[in-house]
Amino acid sequence: MDFEAIAKKFGLKKRYVEHLLYYSYFYKPVNFDKIEIPKENLQWWAREILKLQRPTKERLPFYEKIWEKHKEFSDTIIDIGSGLNPISLLLIDWRPKEYIALDIADSIVNFLNKLDFLPIKAKKFDFLSEIPKEKGLILLWKVIPIMDKFYGFRYVKNYLESLRGNIISISFPRKSLSGKKLIGRAWRYYIKRASPYKIIDEFETDNEYFIIFDATE
Ligand SMILES: C[S@@+](CC[C@H](N)C(=O)[O-])C[C@H]1O[C@@H](n2cnc3c(N)ncnc32)[C@H](O)[C@@H]1O
Repeated sequence: MDFEAIAKKFGLKKRYVEHLLYYSYFYKPVNFDKIEIPKENLQWWAREILKLQRPTKERLPFYEKIWEKHKEFSDTIIDIGSGLNPISLLLIDWRPKEYIALDIADSIVNFLNKLDFLPIKAKKFDFLSEIPKEKGLILLWKVIPIMDKFYGFRYVKNYLESLRGNIISISFPRKSLSGKKLIGRAWRYYIKRASPYKIIDEFETDNEYFIIFDATE
């Protein structure tokens, strides 16, 4: 589904759905068609681009640690609701063979596909109606609260069960958008109830909690 189909299905206004799923994650409106793709100073450029979206900006001081915790699992990454996250590869030395970035927003998909210096293959995809076919390390970073908001706990549980055959990394915010409420503990409990898999690793940064599950069997 695209924004319009989701709005129709849930009896919501398209503008509200676009805001909730896309615009609210940016600090200001961004026209991706106007962003020039550089040939040098790629690390500096990556930092500037990652500052545009909230989750990636908050992660900037922690990307090295975060990738260090993930790169051993697979050289195929499937990033569900990727946003700008794939660009963080420019901050580290490691490269997967393939980085499949799945996002509902055409602007993000087109932009990521222009970055031919990274092994990114971006595709339009809706995690409210689709499950990825590829196998590898699946990232579900900061997307579970959206799934829960639209479809509830059962959908999340079934979604995780249908990702069997992969390593799954899930992240969620430790604080509410206003920064006042501590919500990490509730999500941690929620995810552990929703996932039938064994935990391989759990760690946190200032703003985010990560849980990695072995769903290969
Ligand atoms: C939810 S955040 C997550 C970003 C990324 N996972 C991270 O943690 O850095 C925003 C991204 O999710 C995408 N998104 C929102 N709803 C989606 C959906 N139903 N299917 C796929 N992508 C979606 C938005 O387009 C946006 O780029």
